[in-house]
Order: sequence, then C-alpha cells, then structure tokens
Amino acid sequence: MDLSQDTFLNHLAQTTESPSLISVTFAEGIYIYDTDNKRYTDLISGIGVTNIGHRNPAVIAAIKDQLDKYLHVMVYGEYIQSASNELAKKLTSLLPATLNCCYFVNSGTEANEGALKLAKRYTGRREIVSCRQSYHGSTHGSMSVSGNEIKKQAFRPLLPDVTFINFNNVEDLSLITDKTACVILETIQGDAGVRIPSKDYLKAVRKRCNETGALLILDEIQCGMGRTGTLFAFEQFEIAPDILTIAKAFGGGLPIGAFISDKKVMGCLTHDPMLGHITTFGGNPVCCASALATLHVIEEEQLLTGVEEKGKLFETLLRHPKIKEIRRIGLMFAIDFESPEIVNRIVLKAKELGVICYWFLSHPHSFRIAPPLTITKKQIEESCETILKAIDNA
Ligand SMILES: Cc1ncc(COP(=O)(O)O)c(C=O)c1O
Repeated sequence: MDLSQDTFLNHLAQTTESPSLISVTFAEGIYIYDTDNKRYTDLISGIGVTNIGHRNPAVIAAIKDQLDKYLHVMVYGEYIQSASNELAKKLTSLLPATLNCCYFVNSGTEANEGALKLAKRYTGRREIVSCRQSYHGSTHGSMSVSGNEIKKQAFRPLLPDVTFINFNNVEDLSLITDKTACVILETIQGDAGVRIPSKDYLKAVRKRCNETGALLILDEIQCGMGRTGTLFAFEQFEIAPDILTIAKAFGGGLPIGAFISDKKVMGCLTHDPMLGHITTFGGNPVCCASALATLHVIEEEQLLTGVEEKGKLFETLLRHPKIKEIRRIGLMFAIDFESPEIVNRIVLKAKELGVICYWFLSHPHSFRIAPPLTITKKQIEESCETILKAIDNA
C-alpha cells in the first residue's frame, strides 16, 4: 500500500494547491477511515456520488457477480449485454414514457456532451441557451455552457452561439427562439449554492421550448438519484425534459453516466453521420451492474421516503447566529455565512473534528451538505453537533 503524500503530490496531477489529503484506507456506509484509523463522517457523499452509502453490500455483490462473467468485451453499441439491457429497462420504467432510450457514458460531463450533440443533430440548429452560475462539467462543450466566466476565460475559444439567461427569471425566456437547438438547465442549480427554481419557472421553460421547438435538457447529475426526495428532481415540478442527463450517484460508486431521450430523438445518432456519438467504455458491464443494484437499493430500502424528514432534522438542528441562510431541497443543502473566510475555517475545523463538509464551485459564501440518503437520525444529530462546534470554533 502506498499512501505517501510525496507520491500523491508529485506524481498525481493536482487540481488545487490545497487538497484535502485524507489518506483513505477504508469506507463503509457514511464513514471514511484514514491511516490513523480516524473516522470521518462523509456529509458530502464524495460530492454527490454515494447516495446509498459507501460500499453498499448489494452493490458490492452485483459487481462481484459481474466480475465473474466478463469485463469489457466491446465498445458501446455493438454487443448485447445483460447488465446494460437490464439497466436500461429498469431505468426507463422509472421515467416518463418519452424518456425511453438510454445512452450510457462514463461521466457527467460526457452525458452533457452527448445531450448537446443530440439536440444539435436532431433539431438541425446550432444555438444553445444555458444559465448563468450553472455548472455542467469540465470538458470543452460542457464548460462552454457552464456559467462561471472566471473558470472559462483561460480555455477559450469555447463553443460559439451559447446565450446565457438568468436562472429562475421568466422574462429571459424570450431569448429562447426558433433558432435554439436546446436549453440546458440543472433542475436544481448545485454548485451555484443550491438554487431552487419555482414550479412556474420550470413550467414556463417547458412551454417556451414547446413553442420554439427547442429541446429541453435537464442536468440531474448532482440533484438526481433521490437527492431531493424524489428519484429525479423534475418530478416535483410537473414537467419532463426532452433529454435527461445523470451520472454521479447513478453508479453507486462506479463511473457511469447517461443521457436519456425518446427513441425517436436518439435514433438520429445512427446516421448522417453514423456513429454520431461513440465511446469505448460507455455501458461498461460492471458499472451497469452496479447502477442497476443502486436503483434496486433505492427502491427496496425505500430511501426516498425518509429524505424530507431527515432534511428537516438537519435544518432544525443547524441553528447558529453565524448562519445567514440555509437553502435546502431534500438532503441537498447550502449553508450561507457572512464571508468565504468563515466558510473556509468552518470546513477545515469540521474536517479536523471528523465531519466532511465542502465548498461549492461558484458560491464561496456557503458550504455544502449532501449526505448519503442512508444516514440515520442519530448520525444526523451527531454530525450537527460537530458542525455547530466547528462554527463556534471557526
Ligand atoms: C450539475 C452537474 N453537471 C455536470 C457535472 C459534471 O460531472 P462529472 O464530474 O462526472 O463530469 C457535475 C459535477 O459536479 C454537476 O454537478
């Protein structure tokens, strides 16, 4: 085992100058353990991934079962494999009838790349509408439609013909026109610090897309898979997208994403040109087996039913004069403070005390909480006690 900081810092690419540096030896449920056997409560689910907890036993069993049969056998889209067949059947059974065809990919950003390409190809249009403050991924296309200008500047030129509108602002919807290929939105903006739109807004977006023939892409990569209390957040807004993108918690801890649409729409990727989107590893059977087991766990353990109550408990317990605002939907929280410096101190102090909270990409005045949906009331009470202590001492 090599858990040396030297190897990590010098032989692995770094993304910040101050990585968290927890030397992980084991993880289970809501806990991660380090080399000193210190236990950390993972209140961020590895950034939106372990919604059913680390190493859920049903997921481990499904992975082991698939390992005994085969790993990669062919690139996406050629051979018939039971794991991807079963996953597509199960997933589409949980979605509106128009979301009946899945394209499995490897990550969230790739799901959005595929969705954007599909919308351009299907509509024959080139313009894209997205929202300020949004985050859709780190590859060129997804970055082009992400709203954080500071993060984009060094990587231009990016995609042309992207118009940015304000999230949750009905007036801006007039910028969606009959030249718009698609509108891409996070149903709940995550990295902007948990921004929850009104039902009327999302209905107006849906209506405007219908009027103009633009496809609506909903990015549920962070807010999907039960995080908000329903399997997908859009269910709470009485609308459905033309294309849904998911990843993160979808794989139960293994990398898999998907863009999902009507077969009528998805069908255009096979011609003019054929192979309109391709991927070697998309639909990897081990990842599909893990994702299928994840869906079963959410259903069989009835994880959605407890989400609202647990969310409320956090909100009730997290009372402190330094907290300016809490924005929450289900078990997805942004906790606001007066300054980014206070947030930094709290996040670092909480980590020292064994609770992992974390920053947002585009909202430094708050930290995030998004624990595994499996967290118990007792674990919530213990976690909140530690967070309050961190706030007191920060
Ligand atoms: C809403 C949203 N979309 C897309 C992505 C990109 O996903 P990935 O990191 O798997 O490429 C993220 C990741 O944080 C996200 O939160």
